[in-house]
Amino acid sequence: MSQYETILVEQRGAVTLVTLNRPQALNALNSTVLQELIDAFAAYDADASQRCLVLTGSEKAFAAGADIKEMQAQGFAQMYASNFFGGWEQVTRTRKPWIAAVAGFALGGGCEVAMMADFIIAADSAKFGQPEIKLGVTPGMGGSQRLTWAVGKAKAMEMCLTGRMMGAEEAERSGLVAKVVPAADLMDEAIKTAEAIAGMAPLAAIANKEMVNAAFEMTLAQGINFERRLFHGLFGTEDQKEGMTAFVEKRPGNWTGK
Ligand code: CAA
Repeated sequence: MSQYETILVEQRGAVTLVTLNRPQALNALNSTVLQELIDAFAAYDADASQRCLVLTGSEKAFAAGADIKEMQAQGFAQMYASNFFGGWEQVTRTRKPWIAAVAGFALGGGCEVAMMADFIIAADSAKFGQPEIKLGVTPGMGGSQRLTWAVGKAKAMEMCLTGRMMGAEEAERSGLVAKVVPAADLMDEAIKTAEAIAGMAPLAAIANKEMVNAAFEMTLAQGINFERRLFHGLFGTEDQKEGMTAFVEKRPGNWTGK
């Protein structure tokens, strides 16, 4: 049973499935959703039995953005004093892997949350966009930065300035999503992918994630050094011995996370 109001959380073996659940508002992301996601992701990170997480929405909307009705009356002082949206950084600090499974609208904050994931698997119905300009504002949860990293300046600038939506096929071609599947197959595909990741050595999963993310923060030389040191460090783990022994013995690895 989920103890949350705006999200559903269930464990399927070693995979945590988190479903945004405000259908009446197309999963618009209000402060309650944010706090519940912070709590659910922290619980996932702390639970050694859970090895991958999938975040999804509904068939119609992954999330249609931050909750416009919650923001409408706010002034600068309130937004600044509360560091509005600052809490999303806690979600991005999740150490273990997580995937966004996106069908339907992923607009504004919805697109931004999807881009916080380690990667996105999209249904062919998915539509991504940063339409904040139509509301007289800009992205505020990292969209101007993560979209630009993902698809490059030309498309990111065009999308932010026009607010247009990008379909799933274009999103895959542009590097925004890892894979597009028929809408009916989205959850099977996302869970299957998450189970494959959950079957890997847990420390190696965290290390691989840390390394790829380092590419966005470091110079090439620093990033390569970081990679090599972390690679060396894994030779102090039991799972490195197990993984390489299992290969030689032609059997699957039996991971302990140590
Ligand atoms: N915030 C609050 N409520 C929202 C919402 C949002 N972002 N998106 C949709 N809803 C609500 C609608 O107000 C409507 O509620 P009522 O039934 O009470 O009127 C309900 O969800 C259903 O929406 P629609 O009737 O509009 O559904 P539609 O199928 O006709 O249109 C849509 C779908 C094109 C996605 C349209 O809802 C839409 O344009 N939504 C807003 C998209 C947007 O501008 N997102 C950016 C938000 S700002 C932001 O995210 C800032 C940031 O950087 C984080």
